[in-house]
Amino acid sequence: AEQQLIDGLGRRIDYVRLSVTDRCDFRCVYCMAEDMTFLPRQQVLTLEEIERLAGILVAQGVKKIRLTGGEPLVRQGIVDLCSRISALPGLRELVMTSNGSQLVKLARPLAEAGVKRLNISLDSLDAERFRAITRTGELQQVLDGIEAAREAGFQRIKLNVVVMKGRNADEVPALVDYALQRGLDISFIEEMPLGHVGRSRAEAFCSSDEVREIIRRSHVLIDSAEQSGGPARYMRVEGYPDSRIGFISPHSHNFCSTCNRVRVTAEGRLLLCLGHENSIDMRGLLRRHPTTDTPVLEALQAALQRKPARHEFDVNEVQVVRFMNASGG
Ligand code: GTP
Ligand code: 5AD
Ligand code: SF4
Repeated sequence: AEQQLIDGLGRRIDYVRLSVTDRCDFRCVYCMAEDMTFLPRQQVLTLEEIERLAGILVAQGVKKIRLTGGEPLVRQGIVDLCSRISALPGLRELVMTSNGSQLVKLARPLAEAGVKRLNISLDSLDAERFRAITRTGELQQVLDGIEAAREAGFQRIKLNVVVMKGRNADEVPALVDYALQRGLDISFIEEMPLGHVGRSRAEAFCSSDEVREIIRRSHVLIDSAEQSGGPARYMRVEGYPDSRIGFISPHSHNFCSTCNRVRVTAEGRLLLCLGHENSIDMRGLLRRHPTTDTPVLEALQAALQRKPARHEFDVNEVQVVRFMNASGG
């Protein structure tokens, strides 16, 4: 029978976020410093190691795997990896979070490889502002990527917006309209203090309450009891039954008591919580035990007993120096 992963506080862990690379073609101001150095390749899990780890986790009752980065689609061989993971018996869904830059080419192959849902970052609809936020991104490429994804047959597409005053907070209504007109979901995210990014996150901070008030000026928001098994709280907009508006509010509405996830970094550190450094070195375990999973499982079970109760994020302070791209989103 299938094992289950239960942490020391009784929370069932059935969702794993796997970062397949720390690299990215963008340099978003909330995620990275301007001059990033990336991991040397031998420190990154191989595709075979990622596949093996996914298999071990699914055999322990994990139902949902989200591939993240960095940007997952800059990893060579990613589509093939998706086919292999989505075929694991017992997995309910393979999903991905992407910056959208490669979707014109990869949306259809990903859907065919069994990726069920896509979350795509879209922080602005203005090309210059989009460039200022992502530092290297091309808005039109991402918009074309979103269209390609819509045609590729994913069950759902969700847009992610990290809301920052002075950069995109005034675009909330336009972004909502963009999503509503296309029947897409959209989530507004409070920026989290991971890594020193060389700007004040506190100054740009915009709470989910403020975002909701901005939306209420032009739309009728309806409460919704729906949960995706993630940190987002969802609402709906009157007249648009196809879209959900999510609010991810680590600062203003803590969701840790229902946490159902762990994440694995590109170098194979299993992070028990996004907001803490507690981790176990899965890469070392996988490499030391190439043919038997038992020691890997034992270490995993032991680590889960140490999963922190909650993150302690403070907008005014960076306590976790690890950057988001190295954290698996
Ligand atoms: P679904 O609910 O499956 O659609 O995914 P999601 O919204 O959880 O995932 P996504 O990768 O789109 O991430 C959206 C935002 O939620 C990002 O800013 C993530 O960093 C954040 N997030 C996801 N999981 C956690 C978590 O466990 N803790 C915290 N603090 N933030 C998280
Ligand atoms: N705070 C909140 N969200 C972030 N993301 C990246 N960095 C941060 C941060 N510091 C978001 C991206 C992407 C998702 C994986 O995480 O916008 O949509
Ligand atoms: Fe790349 Fe995503 Fe980080 Fe932006 S937020 S730099 S797209 S990994």
